[in-house]
Amino acid sequence: MTTAGGVKDAQPMILADRVCKNFGALQVLKGVSLEIGRGEVLCVIGPSGSGKSTFLRCINHLEEVNAGRLYVDGELVGYQEKNGKLYELHPREAARQRREIGMVFQHFNLFPHRTVLENVIEAPTQVKKVPKATAVAKAQELLDRVGLAEKANAYPAQLSGGQQQRVAIARALAMDPKLMLFDEPTSALDPELVGEVLEVMRELAQSGMTMVVVTHEMGFAREVADKLVFMDGGVIIEAGAPRELLANPKHERTQAFLSRLL
Ligand SMILES: Nc1ncnc2c1ncn2[C@@H]1O[C@H](COP(=O)(O)OP(=O)(O)OP(=O)(O)O)[C@@H](O)[C@H]1O
Ligand SMILES: [Mg+2]
Repeated sequence: MTTAGGVKDAQPMILADRVCKNFGALQVLKGVSLEIGRGEVLCVIGPSGSGKSTFLRCINHLEEVNAGRLYVDGELVGYQEKNGKLYELHPREAARQRREIGMVFQHFNLFPHRTVLENVIEAPTQVKKVPKATAVAKAQELLDRVGLAEKANAYPAQLSGGQQQRVAIARALAMDPKLMLFDEPTSALDPELVGEVLEVMRELAQSGMTMVVVTHEMGFAREVADKLVFMDGGVIIEAGAPRELLANPKHERTQAFLSRLL
């Protein structure tokens, strides 16, 4: 895109440069580098404990990076750089960065005592101070988009898991994120409910949203992702076009992981 954004638009949406993250003595991310273009979908696979969730949490600065740099939309996440030195961002600025990134978790984390509509308008009205009528109109549009227009006044407990997850997606979209992160969004669902959530995600990808999706849904990765990454032990072992990587994994750890999965 060569619009008014100019230089910014030419940069990738996410740029990770040798990102390291430790929890005490435990090195969880050991130099993760990757680039995700605007409108691209990246799927991340890898064994339990390999650092997938930690990497997502670093992208929206729920975790601090110990070394390396992470840029979202051309901005350093969580820090300001002056004369080659990093300074922590003011919490207000860090919160602003986080607001621009939508995140969907395995467990939907909806507010149980609020209706579907109230869940979706909560952040726009409370955090962004969007007028209630505007937020409601937008929420109704989003609920329609995820196929839940008629559930606006239901409570989360009255919905299936797949429906709750679609509300969680609508809730994230209500903040107009420039990027969406999904951490195993379908792995807590009964198998028959997985498809409806993946369908909403596929539609979102087609609409041009930049997405990072940790998932073990290989059909989704193959058909929707532009790029697939296999992580193990805090590093990216292999990355490439999903069809190619799934059909011809080069690294023996990727081969072993995929053979266990398929
Ligand atoms: N807050 C934390 N404090 C200490 N250790 C942590 C913390 N969060 C994650 N870890 C450790 O970091 C490692 C990577 O965890 P992470 O959740 O990123 O893995 P994952 O690839 O998402 O695994 P899974 O597939 O099981 O979700 C694990 O060893 C985990 O125990
Ligand atoms: Mg995880």
